Amino acid sequence: MSYNTIEVQPLTSCIGAEIAGVDLSRELTDEQFGEVKDALVHNHVIFFRDQEVTPERQLTFAKRFGTPEVHPIVEGSNAHPELIEVLKPAGEGASFGTGWHTDNTFFEKPTLYTMLYGIDIPPVGGDTLWADMAAAYDALSDKMKELLDGLVAVHSASIAYDPRTTREKYEGKHSLKYKYSDVVETEVEHPLIRTHDISGRKCIYVNPMFTLRIKGMTKEESAPLLKFLYEFSTKPEFVCRFRWQPKSVAMWDNSCTQHYAMNDYVQYRRFMRRVTIGGDTRPV
Ligand code: SIN
Repeated sequence: MSYNTIEVQPLTSCIGAEIAGVDLSRELTDEQFGEVKDALVHNHVIFFRDQEVTPERQLTFAKRFGTPEVHPIVEGSNAHPELIEVLKPAGEGASFGTGWHTDNTFFEKPTLYTMLYGIDIPPVGGDTLWADMAAAYDALSDKMKELLDGLVAVHSASIAYDPRTTREKYEGKHSLKYKYSDVVETEVEHPLIRTHDISGRKCIYVNPMFTLRIKGMTKEESAPLLKFLYEFSTKPEFVCRFRWQPKSVAMWDNSCTQHYAMNDYVQYRRFMRRVTIGGDTRPV
């Protein structure tokens, strides 16, 4: 792909690219925004360095991609409920986003994009990893693709946010604030293989944080196939890893990725600001 207004430096042969030539503190021209979005669709996760992004600017930029969401369980900031302040003070273990997942697949219309801004970054540790679910799908055998196409997976927030098993979240033992919502009890169904609405690529669409089982199978029957897909799709060949700096931005496409926030910096503070952008259609 060639670009006129931005520079795009891929991180791996399938996922992740650093973007230069963009100042997110200002409004992007339509041409520049179009190229940024193309780079996101093509690389699945894009990164910007040294950006001055106020909460208001973050929301304004996010709104060019769609509608910022208010998370039903994790509390947003007082001033801007759509912005979640992902704070991990020194001494606390990281919990938010630790474990492979795709954001909010327990919504009927799951989150499309997520934008994360780094404010306080540990001197070492606290990286984030992303895995390319389209490249992983492409690498499956034809027979496995045949087996998976047409299957439906059941998703829910009940593993990550069930108050019976994650009580400490609701008891204020984390710096992030959680509130109970009936959403925790709800199950939604999505195709196990989805087609990306812009690129048209097929993507594996299950994740160990929110997928419960395959529709029509018991949990036990689903488990071996899901385990294979979780392990296969996060092989190093399909993964990029980002080393944060203060003022770095990551923006990712949840239709075709999973991500994993490392929990390896207990002695350090890490503070990020996050917004998710809602999907207006169900995955197909
Ligand atoms: C997330 O899962 O959205 C958080 C990722 C991170 O903090 O690196």
